[in-house]
Amino acid sequence: MRRTVLLVSGSLRQMSTNTAALRTITEIAPDGLDCRIYDGLARLPAFNPDDDRYPLHPEVRRLRDAIHEADAIVFSTPEYAGALPGSLKNLLDWTIGDEQAGSIYEKPVGWVNVSPRGADGAHAELRAVLGYTHARVIDSSCAHIPVTSQMVGSDGLIEDDATRTALAGVVSAL
Ligand SMILES: Cc1cc2nc3c(=O)[nH]c(=O)nc-3n(C[C@H](O)[C@H](O)[C@H](O)COP(=O)(O)O)c2cc1C
Repeated sequence: MRRTVLLVSGSLRQMSTNTAALRTITEIAPDGLDCRIYDGLARLPAFNPDDDRYPLHPEVRRLRDAIHEADAIVFSTPEYAGALPGSLKNLLDWTIGDEQAGSIYEKPVGWVNVSPRGADGAHAELRAVLGYTHARVIDSSCAHIPVTSQMVGSDGLIEDDATRTALAGVVSAL
């Protein structure tokens, strides 16, 4: 059976190493996995519980639909000022009020930590926030796979074989 994995980058940078890692996953995913990058992070409105009602903002609807269609989610995020980027925290806040079947609740999730510096603060926060969403963190799909900007080719993909194998392992383990 074909399974769908939603890939969510916490970086909006054009040359993002986090997005490059996720883009590479779409190229190398094992057969049977349909890996899709969520591209609406910058379009999400600031979370406001008053707006968490129908009709939802179109980008919030798109986000929730993308999550519903996915069997699992993989995040890749930088650390800013010792924490998650505000834009990614905002995305996660929008997932919490979704009480429909197929929401992030109990959905398997993992992450790639591409930071050569570790970004421990961001990933501790990611785990804590995912706990509040009641997502199911799959520890074998949470990997530290350092990626530098020099490793990203002009096609936006990572060429290094060991890195590609490690990235494929993250989605295979879901
Ligand atoms: C404003 C700002 C704050 C940052 N704060 C941290 C930090 O606290 N810890 C850290 O490890 N890296 C920090 N960084 C470095 C980024 O996490 C790093 O450049 C990351 O690779 C960016 O990811 P990207 O290539 O996907 O955009 C910061 C970068 C910026 C621009």
